Amino acid sequence: MNRNSLRLSPLPSLRHAAELFNARNGKIIIELGGLNLPPEHPQFELWGGSTINWAMHTRALRILSIDINPRVTQLTREHTRRFAAVEPVTADALLFLSGCQLPIDLLYFDAWDVEQNSPYKQRHLDAFRLALPHLTPRAIVLVDDTDIDNGGKGELVVPEALANGFRILWKGRQTAFSKDEMLY
Ligand SMILES: C[S@@+](CC[C@H](N)C(=O)[O-])C[C@H]1O[C@@H](n2cnc3c(N)ncnc32)[C@H](O)[C@@H]1O
Repeated sequence: MNRNSLRLSPLPSLRHAAELFNARNGKIIIELGGLNLPPEHPQFELWGGSTINWAMHTRALRILSIDINPRVTQLTREHTRRFAAVEPVTADALLFLSGCQLPIDLLYFDAWDVEQNSPYKQRHLDAFRLALPHLTPRAIVLVDDTDIDNGGKGELVVPEALANGFRILWKGRQTAFSKDEMLY
């Protein structure tokens, strides 16, 4: 048994975020970290398949899936061709957010991997700070892998969000927050 086999799937949280996004009449989703496993891969569900979740379960007009790796962008494109809303973008997430002027209704953090001695926590915080001015008033922010490594990708992002008036909606394998606490 490896460490991953003990973890919960992110799918209920991804689905819940999709439902909340629809209930709030969201239009634009930005996700950091694209589809880097094909749906037939045995680890696919544990990984998330987030782009497909947004495409299948939201009414988003635009789903921008940002990944630094062109192979991942290509895989995302291949598996989401039938969804007109999905726009795979090959870019460093921080560079992308630096130039992004779009109003963001749902922001998904799943880029820099959880690796010891890497600055992945700080990079997710940097990304949150860049995106903050562009989050719409009822925006939902979702962070993956917050159940490991002392808060994982959210260890620095979540306190920063709380200091900026956000409230936690749910936490576990993923953490979701918004300035609007209502679950609709
Ligand atoms: C955990 S995977 C994303 C999984 C995907 N969200 C899913 O649910 O299937 C993380 C991805 O982040 C990408 N990544 C790493 N550093 C990045 C950066 N600086 N900017 C954008 N993407 C990055 C990697 O190439 C990798 O494909």
